[in-house]
Amino acid sequence: MSDLLIKNARFKNGKVQDILILKKVIVEIGNVSEITDIPTIDAKGYFVTAPFVDSHFHLDATLSYGIPRVNKSGTLLEGINLWGELKPNLTADALKERARKLCQWAIARGTLAIRSHVDISDPSLLAVEAMLDIQNEYRPWLDLQLVAFPQDGLIRANSKDNLNNALALGVEVVGGIPHFERTMDDGAESIKYLCELAAKKGLQVDMHCDESDDPMSRHIEVLTKETIRLGLQGRVAGSHLTSMHSMDNYYVSKLLPLMTEARISVIANPLINITLQGRHDTYPKRRGLTRIPEQILAGLTVAFGHDCVMDPWYPLGSHDMLDVAHMALHVAQMTGITQMQECFNAVTENPARILGLEGYGLEKGCKGDLLVLQCMDDVEALRLRPARLYVIRDGSILSSTQEVVYDLDLSGHKSSTDFIFSRT
Ligand code: FE2
Repeated sequence: MSDLLIKNARFKNGKVQDILILKKVIVEIGNVSEITDIPTIDAKGYFVTAPFVDSHFHLDATLSYGIPRVNKSGTLLEGINLWGELKPNLTADALKERARKLCQWAIARGTLAIRSHVDISDPSLLAVEAMLDIQNEYRPWLDLQLVAFPQDGLIRANSKDNLNNALALGVEVVGGIPHFERTMDDGAESIKYLCELAAKKGLQVDMHCDESDDPMSRHIEVLTKETIRLGLQGRVAGSHLTSMHSMDNYYVSKLLPLMTEARISVIANPLINITLQGRHDTYPKRRGLTRIPEQILAGLTVAFGHDCVMDPWYPLGSHDMLDVAHMALHVAQMTGITQMQECFNAVTENPARILGLEGYGLEKGCKGDLLVLQCMDDVEALRLRPARLYVIRDGSILSSTQEVVYDLDLSGHKSSTDFIFSRT
């Protein structure tokens, strides 16, 4: 079904209006009378938003926690080693089974677009082919964008051919990992090669960049330079950028305007950055999250990714982008009212822009994709991480659940609560 009328939906501006979706497109927002023959749902004054977008994930590694063993130290490097141990035993069926489960979790949580890095280090490209199959299989329900990711290093593992082959198979974005190459020079060389490749093929770039606490890890500077040199402005994302947390303030004051000039998008991964960074510190321990408020102030597009769910790097998660934004808000101390709203935008409209999703948004003419959340506004969504009452794609309900209400009985005094602070 591609037609749907949603009654009494609360928008970000507080207005309660109806939304009419016809032939998968939002055609009316306002006071819409009920129409016979069109399915109708009542949003009961709850908050409506465009779907969540995860701009950084690893679908080929997800839900592999404990195979063949758990990450004892919890560090990034043990995680990479563990992934290396797991890889020889991967099968296409197992990869796809885990990816399907994750996609179902994501949809139920209201995420309808994911950019996933896929490891191209194995010449057989088993994981690439499996993820392309999942991309096709889930296309009706989820936009899955794949990044060719040389996990073991482009130069270090001699994986240029694999990367080119992955792109030839249909992977859409060029990835990289310059800080994992053997030297700073090799890192710079990898960036130059990958950006030239993207320019030649007309593709976007999204690199794991400077995912360390080393203040001298400055590959973002080279990425910025190559972006400008090759005219890739607005098509390049720096994922993680955690070394910016530890950089000298004067250097950052020079770097941020360069990033703005190159229109680099920033993709932070707060759940993972707060657990993996600062591991070599005693006390005080650095937070290791990139400089989000300053990047937003500089005019950069900033998005948050989930990165991992139950894999060699992270033992938790249920693919909830509100968990991600909740963590970012705390770690980056973004408790100002507009800052909290920016955290919500970082899991909705900002990543939609980075992924280039067409027709995204809650306006007439946009695609009929939206969520009804059991809360009153975007900030309350972050506070409660509430039930996703309806997840709607192309005017069809993909997932739904009942309102969550707790009934109390305090020595006979009965009441109920849903934790909603105020109803207007
Ligand atoms: Fe990642």
